[in-house]
Amino acid sequence: MADEKIRQCFEALYQSTPDTHDAVTVDPNFPRANARYHYIGIEKRIIEYLYKHKFQPNTLLDVGTGFGHWVQFYNEVYQARYVVACDISTTAILGLRGEGKNCFPIVGDVFSPALSKWRFDLINGIGVFHHIIDESEWRQTLLRCYDLLKRGGLLIASGPMRETGDIQTYPKPPKRARQYRYWRKTLLDAGFNTIDFVFQDTKNQHKIHVPQSDLVFAWKGKQ
Ligand SMILES: C[S@@+](CC[C@H](N)C(=O)[O-])C[C@H]1O[C@@H](n2cnc3c(N)ncnc32)[C@H](O)[C@@H]1O
Repeated sequence: MADEKIRQCFEALYQSTPDTHDAVTVDPNFPRANARYHYIGIEKRIIEYLYKHKFQPNTLLDVGTGFGHWVQFYNEVYQARYVVACDISTTAILGLRGEGKNCFPIVGDVFSPALSKWRFDLINGIGVFHHIIDESEWRQTLLRCYDLLKRGGLLIASGPMRETGDIQTYPKPPKRARQYRYWRKTLLDAGFNTIDFVFQDTKNQHKIHVPQSDLVFAWKGKQ
């Protein structure tokens, strides 16, 4: 179901460098210091949010896993029982790092038939959903995430959520930014019952450029 042009863009991006550092998943020319700042900013907000909600995820799906930064994160910080990692790019899945025996890699998107036997406590999609340009595909993807979650499960997504519009960053894959209000409505329509946003703190970004990475936390049947 994923857009073939977007898939080819990511394949070309990953094939343009033999490096499988996280920074490459943002941009092959992205400085590593910036990538570090980008990832720790998201990690901190996830850790604080999950702690506040006393939520310990054991079974996870990482959508658009890239080179597996988030597989490693959930394994190290939460000792996940298993992490299924999917990505539309074969090159990304082949370059997946830090996965243990509990990691199940899948080439494909959330509609992959290989996922139908699994249900998850947590679905993680960092820097992924804004690469779905088609509105219907984007909505269907969020609906599918809802179906793939266990009751009481949590979807975490990141991307630009304080702006709206298409961002054409040729030759990088294009993005479609959607405002948090639209995210909220679409997630409620999909069936999620509690939606929280944690925006990126932009005050400390002096000299360190990172892509806008706001976070949405959407619960399926939170009591
Ligand atoms: C910007 S990278 C982020 C990678 C990783 N989540 C991270 O934060 O390090 C976006 C990834 O999403 C994948 N992707 C794009 N659209 C997708 C879709 N519809 N389903 C699954 N993966 C997708 C791309 O191939 C790419 O590896």
